[in-house]
Amino acid sequence: MYTKELLESIKKVEAAREKNVALEPRRMTAEEKETLLRTYHPDYKEGEFAVLSIGPNKGEKVPTELAALLQGNSRVDPAEIDLENPDYDVDVLIIGGGGAGTSAAIEADNAGAKVMIVTKLRMGDANTMMAEGGIQAADKENDSPAIHYLDAFGGGHFAAKPELLYRLVTEAPEAIQWLNNLGVEFDKAPDGTMITTHGGGTSRKRMHAAKDYSGAEIMRTLRDEVLNREIPVVDFTAAIELILDEKGQAAGAVLLNMETKEILVARAKTVIIATGGAGRLHYQGFPTSNHYGATADGLVLAYRAGAKLLYADTLQYHPTGAAYPEQIFGALVTEKVRSLGAKLINVDGEAFMHPLETRDVSAASIIRECSDRGKGVKTPQGYAVWLDTPMIEIKGGPGTIEKRIPAMMRMFGKYDIDIRKQPILVYPTLHYQNGGIDINRECESGVPNLFVAGEAVGGIHGRNRLMGNSLLDIIVFGRNAGKSAAARAQDTTTGALSLEHVSAFQAERSAAGLSDETVSPKLLPDYRRKK
Ligand code: FUM
Repeated sequence: MYTKELLESIKKVEAAREKNVALEPRRMTAEEKETLLRTYHPDYKEGEFAVLSIGPNKGEKVPTELAALLQGNSRVDPAEIDLENPDYDVDVLIIGGGGAGTSAAIEADNAGAKVMIVTKLRMGDANTMMAEGGIQAADKENDSPAIHYLDAFGGGHFAAKPELLYRLVTEAPEAIQWLNNLGVEFDKAPDGTMITTHGGGTSRKRMHAAKDYSGAEIMRTLRDEVLNREIPVVDFTAAIELILDEKGQAAGAVLLNMETKEILVARAKTVIIATGGAGRLHYQGFPTSNHYGATADGLVLAYRAGAKLLYADTLQYHPTGAAYPEQIFGALVTEKVRSLGAKLINVDGEAFMHPLETRDVSAASIIRECSDRGKGVKTPQGYAVWLDTPMIEIKGGPGTIEKRIPAMMRMFGKYDIDIRKQPILVYPTLHYQNGGIDINRECESGVPNLFVAGEAVGGIHGRNRLMGNSLLDIIVFGRNAGKSAAARAQDTTTGALSLEHVSAFQAERSAAGLSDETVSPKLLPDYRRKK
């Protein structure tokens, strides 16, 4: 239910609706985008970054909160860990039970490896589950992986690692088929062809979806597959340190039972990090669309073991986080709302930008509207802009919202906001970690036998990701990581287990004069009120 003031503001949106529906806002030029990003995008905000003084990325800047964790104290005293008598002994240890981890598990299992997933919450408690809008794949006649590549490469500011992006786009059609065959219920026309839409920065309609709960549908299917195969999953158990062997290869992990606090040791011939993102670090005080467990743990584990990160200074702020009511502040309002025809409208009823610019540009544009331009709508939490959802049914006909974005309708309906009749308020929310652990095309990091998949990887998308390429990357790189790790496990002999790197990192901390008491990985966010 809107306040009296907000209902008053909606009148301007309604008055301009007919004109705005017909309007085709122009696209910004490259120069305009560059200036906009440098001025308003949070990645460019001085004072919010720190330079790392130890570790493989020494001398590079990362968000202040991440720097503290990357350079933090271990949760483990190496002298107290019994590495001689592991509690688990497997070929492939997968850390993380989201879309990437489960895809990896299925493929490693296909390859005959003895696999185990450990996850600090439950399998499926992950950003995959929260994904709404869809998954990209160039599988229609007017499209091709080459066009998909160009869209994503440009959208990521030409910074993606070409060999990774090539893999992403060329293996996308097969990824969709794989999911379809596993049982994902994609939206289809009566003749069985997949329904596809645009996302920001796409030149073709290649977004495949399951209404607006695409991630939940994909996760449901992957989780069922893991359960059906009886792949062991150790729930509520976090990896708190990687174990290397005497040759410097990844060889397992120290685990923490989140409930009993018991410390366990898993030995493995290869390890896959699939721990997801970092939204729950709330960089720069932003709310987040992310899952409760998104605390950058994998980056910390890998960094301490010697793996280099790539683009850890760049984050994605999804342009349309819910800005009202307070109960859903920061929750994702899928880009599909704009794909289906809703436009962004400022306090004066103006459609101030093209609704499908890339995410970084859209977010910066909304921030500008709500700051220097003074055209934001005042809300109880700050400022926001309107997203005029009733436009969807003007364009697509009655029933479009209920059919294509039922989760959005339900989320706002709980607060007596009928998005078919009233617009909604949005503001950027911390959504995705563009950077992460540097890998090669076989998904291997700089630490031998340590593979990475999903949001913990850096470099697939460059410095900004297009909608739908994350659900895609968890499948493509999850599956490849599983295959690579299983193949490597066959030719690996693991030497004596060691936590020497943890002691060495601690010594590096002291030598660099780092004396803070930060302990990492963080594992869970802390929402207790600070005194
Ligand atoms: O807007 C969305 O539905 C988000 C999709 C994504 O991050 O890929």
